[in-house]
Amino acid sequence: MTLVTSLARRRFLQFLAASPLLPHLRAQQLTKAEDGLSVMDFEAAAKSALPPAHWGYMTSGVDDDLTLKANHEAFQHYRLRARRLVDVSKPDLRTEVFGQAWESPIFICPCGSQRAFNTEGELATARAAKAKQTQMILSTQTSFPIEDVNKTYGKPVWFQLYTTSRWEATEKLVKRAEDSGCPVLVFTVDQQVGRNTETQARIRPQDTRNCGACHEGGVPATFSQRGKPMYAGIDTSGIALVDPALAWASVDRLKKFTRMKVVLKGIVTREDAILARQHGADGIIVSNHGGRAEESGLATIDCLAEVVDGAGPLPVMLDGGVRRGTDVYKALALGARAVGIGRPYLWGLSAFGQPGVEKVLDILHAELRMTMGQCGTPGIKQITKAFVQKA
Ligand code: FNR
Repeated sequence: MTLVTSLARRRFLQFLAASPLLPHLRAQQLTKAEDGLSVMDFEAAAKSALPPAHWGYMTSGVDDDLTLKANHEAFQHYRLRARRLVDVSKPDLRTEVFGQAWESPIFICPCGSQRAFNTEGELATARAAKAKQTQMILSTQTSFPIEDVNKTYGKPVWFQLYTTSRWEATEKLVKRAEDSGCPVLVFTVDQQVGRNTETQARIRPQDTRNCGACHEGGVPATFSQRGKPMYAGIDTSGIALVDPALAWASVDRLKKFTRMKVVLKGIVTREDAILARQHGADGIIVSNHGGRAEESGLATIDCLAEVVDGAGPLPVMLDGGVRRGTDVYKALALGARAVGIGRPYLWGLSAFGQPGVEKVLDILHAELRMTMGQCGTPGIKQITKAFVQKA
């Protein structure tokens, strides 16, 4: 090859690497779920598969997406301290939460409106979660009724609660989840006021479809009850589907009202972990709603240690920015009992339906298993803070 052609080739490759076309090229290559090599492959595939408005809803953080980016990037600030010459011939991902045996510490986070990503929505997710023996949490904003999802999942899911501004309406939601057999109520506490999903707003005009068929007034509202079966039979006129007046007394009230365990989702400080204990919460999920709550927040992995400290004996789980088995491992090492994924399985769902969700779970489980072997920790209980170091 002459010097000129080699330079031209290098320039072309540099152009390709920097080009915004690259994700599309990769996505086009991913025509089957089984070809996915990493969870991130599914992001590009989902973007290609979805109409712009639905992609915007999923991918958006708030304001400049700083918390969203921080969640993922912060995992890189922690590095592994691998131990050698440990028999790792029998890696075991099993763990236990609230006395229940789990096959894996990875769980499916509650994400609303999944029919926007696949016509089978939460039912496809439930089938995948069942096939991969993975704990599923169902959103209040589910597009399918909880009873149908439970039937598909083969047992009751955990139910995520958005309280409303009218307590009687909230009680009906909780009672319905309890009656359907749910053992755990995941009370989301990081969405008391509106949010500025600016990325979503910037992408939405690219969508030229008529949204009126599915969305009230043609404008998708984040918390709209149209087509949301959990609000069936509840008078929602004149009420807000998020409640700015929530306070710790709301936790007391819920605890008195339900027999389900109550897990608070969205706790990011030691102070609130202590209050959670004092108000009788049974567990905590460290979360900032995948960067959709406050902007300029700390990454969840950076909040974990202090929350674990404040939580005492309560099990603490984490979600936000988890994209690799090493991320799961680091969260477990820093004290998480279990680790949730949101967008990664939504990407799989959007691109390939149930097989996409299954493949995402397979990849994360394989990566976690390998990391456990490489670090000399064949069991989940052996993964402690001795195996990570802040770089
Ligand atoms: C969410 N999340 C969420 N949380 C919740 O408590 N109730 C809900 O209805 C929703 N809906 C929802 C929709 C979409 C499209 C996204 C992306 C997220 C937050 C979710 O449960 C979880 O906290 C984050 O998604 C975790 O971060 P990653 O894995 O997306 O980075």
